[in-house]
Amino acid sequence: RNPELDALLQAHEWSAKLYHFLLKNTEHGKPAMEYLKARGFTDKAIDQFQIGYAPARWDTLVQFLDKRSFDLGAMERGGLLASRQDGSGYVDRFRDRIIFPIHNRTGKVIAFAGRILGEGQPKYLNSPESKLFIKSRTLYNLHQAKSSIRKTGQIVLFEGYGDVISASEAGVHNGVATMGTALTESHAAILRNLADEVIVCYDGDNAGQAAALKSIPILEAAGFQVKISVLSEGLDPDEFIQKYGAERFIRQIIEGSVSSTKFRLINLKKNHIMLGAGEDAKVPFIKEAMEVIAPIESPTEREIYLKELSADLKVSFESLKQECNQFRTDLQKKQQDGDNNPKRWNNGRHKK
Ligand code: CTP
Ligand code: MN
Ligand code: MN
Ligand code: MN
Ligand code: MN
Repeated sequence: RNPELDALLQAHEWSAKLYHFLLKNTEHGKPAMEYLKARGFTDKAIDQFQIGYAPARWDTLVQFLDKRSFDLGAMERGGLLASRQDGSGYVDRFRDRIIFPIHNRTGKVIAFAGRILGEGQPKYLNSPESKLFIKSRTLYNLHQAKSSIRKTGQIVLFEGYGDVISASEAGVHNGVATMGTALTESHAAILRNLADEVIVCYDGDNAGQAAALKSIPILEAAGFQVKISVLSEGLDPDEFIQKYGAERFIRQIIEGSVSSTKFRLINLKKNHIMLGAGEDAKVPFIKEAMEVIAPIESPTEREIYLKELSADLKVSFESLKQECNQFRTDLQKKQQDGDNNPKRWNNGRHKK
């Protein structure tokens, strides 16, 4: 038991209730409510995710916490308040922002994310890391998603708050989000305790697709079977659902998610098309595709991808297969050389 931590948890719980109340029941909250409604957030979602509003004042939370005898210095250290620049006391950290409470695995509020209404910087202002809130180990909505994750054996991994919330409204209840930070090994390990399969459903913009590519080795190293959603037009999952509806989201984006190999190949192809090349661009593309396909252990799996590639590029299956086998031979040679190389034994992880 740590009294300062307990007080901080209590303060977060009560602050979340206050912000939620202010959004729903006060004049101050009206523009925020209108903003949420315009974005398609329902009353049900606002309640379920305990969304709130921090008014455009300096002392809403300062007054509220002070009246309840919280130690304001401890509240500043815990990220709810900020120190005045002249050191004469405290001000609210979150002002004139939509509030998304962030819960830990057991459902306790440990941090807040505050979104600006409309355009402006920063778009999201988050609680700083603290003893309570460690970003690399926190996943948004895990407390609500975990029962559905266990039931389905599957996790849907999103980037942001809106994506998780809209997906849940669309009937996808096993969604969690990394909240913009890169996926860590700790995230993967926490999730791996709950399910065998993960669908990475990141934004359709370049940043999102690049982040999806980076997440593959981390998730596969944790032992996950990985699928990736392919979002087009640069849309994020939330925008896709608002534009095309729940049914199409589930069919095209969730059920239509592809294997990590297929996703890598789709990405390679996109890059080569973007380079605007013709027939002769097939050669470097095939080389890069082989780097993805050749290491696959299963011969039937390799054959499936090679057949697709053959149809796609109008290159004979036989020549692609030869190329692939050559790649495998080279790969095996490299591995053997590496194993026989005494330097590796000194620098590698064999030596502890
Ligand atoms: N994020 C953040 N701080 C920022 C921008 C993003 O913490 N300045 C995090 C948030 O958790 C956000 C996620 O990264 O939900 C994904 O970022 P982005 O796609 O830019 O935001 P959206 O979730 O799409 O936000 P919105 O729909 O409200 O514009
Ligand atoms: Mn409520
Ligand atoms: Mn994004
Ligand atoms: Mn987004
Ligand atoms: Mn969005």
